[in-house]
Amino acid sequence: MKSLIICKSIHHGNTMKIAERMASVLNADLVKPKELNLDAIKEYEIIGLGSGIYSSKHHQFLLDLADKLPDLSSKKVFVFSTSGVIRKSFHRSLNDKLGKKNAVIVDEFFCLGFNTNSFLKYFGGMNKGRPNESDLRRADEFAEKVKQGGVAK
Ligand SMILES: Cc1cc2nc3c(=O)[nH]c(=O)nc-3n(C[C@H](O)[C@H](O)[C@H](O)COP(=O)(O)O)c2cc1C
Repeated sequence: MKSLIICKSIHHGNTMKIAERMASVLNADLVKPKELNLDAIKEYEIIGLGSGIYSSKHHQFLLDLADKLPDLSSKKVFVFSTSGVIRKSFHRSLNDKLGKKNAVIVDEFFCLGFNTNSFLKYFGGMNKGRPNESDLRRADEFAEKVKQGGVAK
C-alpha cells in the first residue's frame, strides 16, 4: 500500500528518528509539512502524521496542515509523537482536526524524547538518549502492525 509520513521535528530531531524507522518499514514517502503537495494525498492509502509535542500539542505547522487536508475517509491514518512526558491528551488537537476530515485513526504511537526546553537545559535535559534503540524497535513493530492492518497496542 502506498504510504506517506508527514513529520515536523524541530527540537532535537527526536520525532524524525521515529519517522525514519516507520518510513523504512512502510516503504513510505517521508516529507515535512511545508513540502507536502496536497494534491498528492489522494495517491496514498496509509498516512502518518507526527511531530514533537510543544505546549501539550503537535507542532502548529502540522495542526494547520490538518485543516487543509482533503477528505480522509478512505485512508488509514496514524498519529505519532515524541515528548518530555507521555500524555494521551497531547494527541487530542490533531486527532480532532483529522476527525473533521473523516479520518479513522487506526493507531497512535507515543515516545519519550530528549528535552532541553526552558530551564531543563541547565540540568543536562531530560530523557537523554531517547528515542533509544528499544524505542526505535517499538516504532518498527508499530509500523509493521499498521502495514498488516492491525492495531499495535
Ligand atoms: C518549546 C517546547 C515546548 C515543549 N512542550 C512540551 C510539552 O508541553 N510537553 C512535553 O511533554 N514535552 C514538551 N516539550 C519536549 C518535546 O516534546 C520533546 O523534546 C520532543 O521529543 C521534541 O521532538 P523533536 O526533537 O522531534 O522536535 C517541549 C519542547 C519544546 C522545545
